[in-house]
Amino acid sequence: MVNSIEYRAPSNIALIKYWGKRGVQIPQNPSMSFTLSNSVTKTKMTWSEGDSQTLFLFEGESNPSFEEKILKFRKTWEEKYPVLKNLDLKIESSNTFPHSAGIASSASSMASLSLCFAHVVSKLTNNLDHKNDFLEQASSFARLGSGSACRSLFGGVVTWGEWNDETSNQFASKVDALPLSWNEWGDAILIVSSKEKPVSSREGHALMDSHPYAETRYKEATDRVSQLHQIMKEERLMDFCDLVEKEALELHGLMMNSTPSFILMRPESLGIIEKVRAFRKRTGLPVCFTLDAGPNVHLLYALKNKEEVKNFIESELTPFLEEGRWIDDKVGNGPEINHG
Ligand code: DP6
Repeated sequence: MVNSIEYRAPSNIALIKYWGKRGVQIPQNPSMSFTLSNSVTKTKMTWSEGDSQTLFLFEGESNPSFEEKILKFRKTWEEKYPVLKNLDLKIESSNTFPHSAGIASSASSMASLSLCFAHVVSKLTNNLDHKNDFLEQASSFARLGSGSACRSLFGGVVTWGEWNDETSNQFASKVDALPLSWNEWGDAILIVSSKEKPVSSREGHALMDSHPYAETRYKEATDRVSQLHQIMKEERLMDFCDLVEKEALELHGLMMNSTPSFILMRPESLGIIEKVRAFRKRTGLPVCFTLDAGPNVHLLYALKNKEEVKNFIESELTPFLEEGRWIDDKVGNGPEINHG
């Protein structure tokens, strides 16, 4: 019998960054993120009993470099759930965002793939039936595929890594009991460059192993997660903006004084940063920037101010953008299942 399942999982943007890891993808510090809505990977898994084949297609075509990751990921699942060994699998994946946008898709793709595996396991065994177990396991396996992917399994504001009694290094969880206004935030992803980054995530994290400020950084990031949580509970929007920006600049500062050193911002990224700060000062609106380990800038803002922010992007930021491109995204509700 042939069965299939499809999951859509979103990307996420870190507010407090995961930077540095040890052991089996254990983060050196906790992180916190907004789950996105429109930047999504869709993965369909079709399975039948057979002799352990894996066929992988990305947007209808074979993709050898990603296929290698998928085979490794399948092995990881099989070690825990041998029932997966004797299956013929067909995995078809596609992104809603253009792959030439310079937006990392590892979080959304590993999250959607992990959900498919978790679903198959729950169909073939009596494990993983309970809703929380299901998401926790899917998140902890997604973590093994790519650290930030474990945060893409839940909606709204998500945290990964130990910083209080409810959090874990193994899997991420939703930050509950925050004012609902945080679900009404936009993320305009400003495309400064769509070129591939000169340093992979894995190499980037490894830079922290010999970084002179590593211990200070891990402690500070842990304190910042608690601080941000408090700020968000109290809806202190300007404090939110200050902390999120400091955190993004710190990530880039760490990269700049790593050995070897990397400057991943482009002059256009800095141009945007200056404009954003001037706009916030001038208008008093809660609008701030964050960046991952690359030159593109995520502009975060309360959706009730979308009109003003859109005008600001179009009138002041377009000259800094590659072909004027930006992606209109916002905080979202997490993965969706499609039974097909
Ligand atoms: C700067 O999750 O891409 O975006 O675990 O090696 O796959 P791997 O790294 P990855 O690292 C993300 C780093 C970051 C910050 C963040 O998303 O928290």
